[in-house]
Amino acid sequence: MLDAYLMEWGSQLLRWLHVITAIAWIGSSFFFIHLDASLRPAADIPPGEGAAPSQFLAWQVHGGGFYEMRKYLVAPPRMPEELTWHKWQSYWTWISGFFLLVWVYYAQSELYLIDPAVMALSPFAAGAIGIVALAGGWLFYDVMCKSPLGRNDVVLGVLGFGYVVAASWAFAQVFSGRGALIHTGALMATIMTANVFFNIMPGQRKVIAALTAGEKPDPKYGKQAKQRSTHNNYITLPVLFLMLSNHYPVTYANSAVIPALVALIIVAGALIRHFYNVRHADHAKSPWWTWAVAILALWFAFWLAMASSPGGRERLGLSPREPAKPVLLAGMSLPPVEVANIVSGRCAMCHAPEPSWPGIQMAPKGVFLHEPERIAAQARAIRTQAVMTHAMPPNNLTGMTEAERHVLAAWLAKTR
Ligand code: HEC
Repeated sequence: MLDAYLMEWGSQLLRWLHVITAIAWIGSSFFFIHLDASLRPAADIPPGEGAAPSQFLAWQVHGGGFYEMRKYLVAPPRMPEELTWHKWQSYWTWISGFFLLVWVYYAQSELYLIDPAVMALSPFAAGAIGIVALAGGWLFYDVMCKSPLGRNDVVLGVLGFGYVVAASWAFAQVFSGRGALIHTGALMATIMTANVFFNIMPGQRKVIAALTAGEKPDPKYGKQAKQRSTHNNYITLPVLFLMLSNHYPVTYANSAVIPALVALIIVAGALIRHFYNVRHADHAKSPWWTWAVAILALWFAFWLAMASSPGGRERLGLSPREPAKPVLLAGMSLPPVEVANIVSGRCAMCHAPEPSWPGIQMAPKGVFLHEPERIAAQARAIRTQAVMTHAMPPNNLTGMTEAERHVLAAWLAKTR
């Protein structure tokens, strides 16, 4: 029982850290993008401090003070004593995110990552596939950027888009829908942090080293960094959508449409980002059309998710729903009849393919509890929701008794 409490608390603490560091990272990255866009050529360059147009200026007001921000395109004439780097927000977002992934998806893979109807992986195999895919996925992207294809930004952008969509398809062939979406998001987020760690930061250090040695820095580092940070900029919003998707089963109800959903979300998120990139440089040039396309893409995504979900297919009379045959994973055993009866009597009116509880139209959070195999697969979640806490049934709507919870607890104490 203690370990179940630890899993819950560990998950919440890691998520807390992850969200805070991500806010700090995205906040600083949006700030610098906005700052860059609002810079204007500096008119008042003091003699000896470089010639126009290598300096740009922007004024900001915040928290009762005025800030004069000056950008030196290559480098300032003298290196300042103290230089603030913005990198730890990115590194910590990845580190906390990686541990959260391990904690939730690899340590509890039977619950969240492995769908025996897709592929009956062992927990070890599932985790190994995930980690290898993230590392290999970054390497592939890096090689793509450094290859001759990387010389053309548009070609590279289109290829990168196709690559991520293909990766989401591949993930959907091995993982649950939820696991596939989170791994697509994790791959994109890994690319973002790896861009900072392996490309942008080393380049920046080389430029500084050259300047300190009194040499002219190679402009290729600046160009590379610009390309990578542009990628990071455009994928930020889609990544956040994918990170949140695991709380919304409708988005991952049908693995077959995951690549299409991912494609639509990337289009919508990247275009919304593009709107602000352009607008912050010049309000008069705001590309309003991007909103029209983004809303259209989101609208398609909405319909696709709804129409392809098991409930939606039935409503549209598309094809009789074939519920995936429940499969028991290795090492799991069916619950005793007494337990199955309690769960069917108190939970399955909501947690079934066709819930009978008024107002509930699809199994909440995609949790099914109408068959013994499903009850076995959800054992840990049942423990968290109905034994460790009384979160389920909600407000004890179905009148579960203490004696029944004790029966569940006794069974859970014997399962892993
Ligand atoms: C009246 C309908 C109803 C009944 C009965 C019910 N649930 Fe739920 N269940 C819900 C709803 C609604 C949610 C989604 C809650 C949310 O959005 O946080 C949910 C969520 C869950 C989740 C997912 C929690 C998560 O956040 O991942 C589990 C597991 C669960 N229920 C188990 C049970 C068990 C076990 C029982 C029986 C003891 C039960 N439920 C009875 C409506 C019900």
